Amino acid sequence: MRRNLGVCLSCCAFLALGSTIAAGQSGDVSPTPTFAKDVAPIIYENCVSCHRPESIAPMSLTSYSEVRPWARAIRDKVVSGEMPPWHADPRYGTFRNERKLTTAQIETIEQWVDTGATRGDDAHTPVLPTFAEGWQGGEPDYVFVMPEYQVPAEGEIGMTNFWVPNTFKEDRFLEAVEMRPGNPSVVHHGRIDVLELPLGLSVNEHGVLVGSDSRPFTEERGGVLDIPDDSGNRFHLISFVPGRGYERYAPGTGKRLTAGKWLRFNIHYQAKGIADTDATRLGVWFSKVPVTHEVFTRSVGTSLPTEIQHTRYMVGGKEVILNVPIGTGEIRTTRIPNIPPHAENWKIVSVTPVTEPITIFSLWPHMHLRGKDMTWIVTFPDGRDEVVLSVPNYDFNWQLQYELAEPLSVPAGSKLTAIGHYDNSIRNRYNPAPDKEVYWAEQSWDEMFSPYLEYTVDSLLAEPLEGTE
Ligand code: HEC
Repeated sequence: MRRNLGVCLSCCAFLALGSTIAAGQSGDVSPTPTFAKDVAPIIYENCVSCHRPESIAPMSLTSYSEVRPWARAIRDKVVSGEMPPWHADPRYGTFRNERKLTTAQIETIEQWVDTGATRGDDAHTPVLPTFAEGWQGGEPDYVFVMPEYQVPAEGEIGMTNFWVPNTFKEDRFLEAVEMRPGNPSVVHHGRIDVLELPLGLSVNEHGVLVGSDSRPFTEERGGVLDIPDDSGNRFHLISFVPGRGYERYAPGTGKRLTAGKWLRFNIHYQAKGIADTDATRLGVWFSKVPVTHEVFTRSVGTSLPTEIQHTRYMVGGKEVILNVPIGTGEIRTTRIPNIPPHAENWKIVSVTPVTEPITIFSLWPHMHLRGKDMTWIVTFPDGRDEVVLSVPNYDFNWQLQYELAEPLSVPAGSKLTAIGHYDNSIRNRYNPAPDKEVYWAEQSWDEMFSPYLEYTVDSLLAEPLEGTE
């Protein structure tokens, strides 16, 4: 899978330069590094994809005069490993979209700052990489737009849903998808799911679910809306966070856009002091080559698509099976047990038996403000355990996706295990209410445990679709 194409292309254009510089640096880091010769190449290659005008980071770092005022902050953030954002434990897994500085690069930045952050000879400053403006994947084949939303100036807005119909009359396979905020200054993060309209409800002109009395239907505490998470009826299409939002699937694989279903834009807005509007878009690229395998997204703990739906968790050493039959006769699968007040290191383990060979392409953790860490382990039929991804310091603000450098084949008879910890104590500075029992639900002050995987089932051949371009 190739992601973030725009960024990738510019990195590639930059590779030649990057390697010359790395070679020059090896062994003897010059005692007083300069911006032009030593630091600009590192910043241009690793930071300006986000830190440039009109992009997602708070400040632009495209020249000496822009970088200089931030020198100390830059040193601190690269030394602490907070920038560039990447949260996988380096001991496990290799990832094709990894963002990381080498030790030598970090040392160069440190030395540059500690020796006065000098400019050097502008003639040595490399050319700034160019970035694709607009859609990262180029012009999409089709664009879905949600109805315009008036973002209030103040207050906690939380997750807001907008429903957009899929007007295509037949199923289509997508080789790439991109979620693109209409107004990046107010969109904190979001996701789009493909799902059915809940029974008895309809959608008004603002994209809001309404009951038969035309009053907006609010999804509170997760209890009212009968949509099983990650079951056959609902699936995750794409997520947007800064630095993520474009997915291109491996050739011959793709995600299904099901005829007659709805696209639910689920967006976390942040008020910015003045009222503004947003109309986020979904760009899709139809598969141009026949798709043999459909890409699924599920979280560990839910069963894979060829099995009966169930959820299995271990909490406090005890097995909890949450087969909650709900209105439509379906089963809500990803709710977790409640987290007690003040629990500092509440642990949950989920397990999915692999009954058919699957291929895993990428993984990412989804938790809310109390989430601490998440680890995925594959136990192979011979008993060997492999940690596929470990995110030791989960950060709600950065829901990064980790794309395996090589897709991982998992044979039948294996087991997937995910382990997560939560801090519902006062020691967690993001905790909005340590004295509350926390429920599974959508808002960031509620909780979720979603150890996501994107995978294909080897034996499950996608049925050919009629009318696919
Ligand atoms: C994927 C996008 C992305 C990349 C790549 C990235 N940053 Fe950032 N950076 C951000 C965003 C968004 C913020 C603001 C939110 C935050 O602090 O987490 C930020 C914040 C910062 C801050 C703190 C600013 C403040 O207000 O204190 C510094 C310093 C920084 N970045 C430096 C860097 C450097 C140096 C690099 C490259 C080595 C880098 N960043 C790479 C997105 C990025």
